[in-house]
Amino acid sequence: MKLAVIGTGYVGLVSGVCFSDIGNDVTCVDKMSQKIEMLQQGEVPIYEPELKELIKKNAEAGRLRFTTDLTSAVGNADIVILAVGTPSMPSGEANLSYIMEAAKEVALAMNGHKIIMTKSTVPVGTNEKIGSLIRGNTAYPVSVASVPEFLREGSAVRDTMNPDRIVIGSDCEDARQALAELHKTLTDNILFTDVRSAEMIKYASNAFLATKISFINEIANICEKVGADVTQVAVGMGHDNRIGSSFLKAGIGYGGSCFPKDTEALIQIAGHVDYEFKLLKSVVEVNRDQRFNVIRKLESILDTLNGKTIAIWGLAFKPETDDVRDAPAFEIITSLLQRGASVKAYDPIATSNFMQKLNSPRIEYCDSAEEAALRADALCVLTEWKEFQKISPATIQSWLKSPNLIDGRNMYKEEEVANTGLIYYSVGRPN
Ligand code: UGA
Repeated sequence: MKLAVIGTGYVGLVSGVCFSDIGNDVTCVDKMSQKIEMLQQGEVPIYEPELKELIKKNAEAGRLRFTTDLTSAVGNADIVILAVGTPSMPSGEANLSYIMEAAKEVALAMNGHKIIMTKSTVPVGTNEKIGSLIRGNTAYPVSVASVPEFLREGSAVRDTMNPDRIVIGSDCEDARQALAELHKTLTDNILFTDVRSAEMIKYASNAFLATKISFINEIANICEKVGADVTQVAVGMGHDNRIGSSFLKAGIGYGGSCFPKDTEALIQIAGHVDYEFKLLKSVVEVNRDQRFNVIRKLESILDTLNGKTIAIWGLAFKPETDDVRDAPAFEIITSLLQRGASVKAYDPIATSNFMQKLNSPRIEYCDSAEEAALRADALCVLTEWKEFQKISPATIQSWLKSPNLIDGRNMYKEEEVANTGLIYYSVGRPN
């Protein structure tokens, strides 16, 4: 099939590349000429395992190309995939201006019937507006479908190639058939819904996963007070098939470009129809507070943070990505600086993204985990990178000035830390 993908962010780029890899002819379009030039030269603007190799393979095979020319890309395509960003506005609502602008440009570029498949996360009712906008700007017929994306950063290629399910929300039979055909090599598990339900499935899924995380984080906070171990509690809960074991890892809360944005947006969506989503509001509040447990623990060990040097391992919102959007590290480091501490920070790949957003004479960005930890008064692990897991607690102890380790991601097992001389605080486990 011939596809045009509008937007080369995470979702657009990974989807486009994966669709080309399963044999489709794909043109990825973006307004940012610098990004397109990079991609044309085989450089990838984001860090994502496997992506670079797949781009090279499919570009060389002639199935994948990158352009700023939306008109010719749409002209050559049977299916147009909308994958532009829907960032949060200050109110928490999704900003739809980019997707509406893209839809209008697509309409003006149409030269025949097209199927429009929206992959961007958009509030309920948006695809209907996209359909009306396009119909108002072209005489050609159009079939609109909402096909939400469920890939995770860091495993985006794997998730796209092996989806748990594909949701196709459309009232147009031709779109249902063509999109089922497009996805059939990826999975047999294709669900057909109406457009509005597909839009809601995306928000509800992310909100539910965020709820699981805030739930287990609160259980962890209680475990700390009653002397139970949240990792064992999560295993015990997860063995119940109705609950499932995933997304029950306690820590410093969720970050990234999706959960914080989509939970806020769903609260707004509910608010617009006079419904207060009380549960989700609490999920967001619990998540906001959870990261400050790191500060509270540091203060309980060090008394005051003023004049202390705190080492930070991990700036990305999770491992295997250089994405720092809404990373808990921002608020934790800002809070340390406000309390008079100095910070030595290290991340395997996210440092340059992070330092573009947060700089201070009291933050030293280091080139290695060792450099950050050397002679610090405490070390805080904020992202569970494999590189950190390979460093033994005894080695950490030998690097630090004072042997304080705050493990915000429960990266170490209790027995690994025992007898090393480290004063060890994890999340929701007896210390
Ligand atoms: C999330 C969803 O998992 C994807 O299904 C969805 O497609 C994507 O949002 C999106 O809407 O685009 P992502 O944000 O890439 O994917 O990353 P996750 O692996 O879900 O992690 C999100 C955050 O939750 C991270 O900060 C992670 O550290 C945290 N987390 C995750 C926990 O604290 N505990 C867990 O058990 C799992």
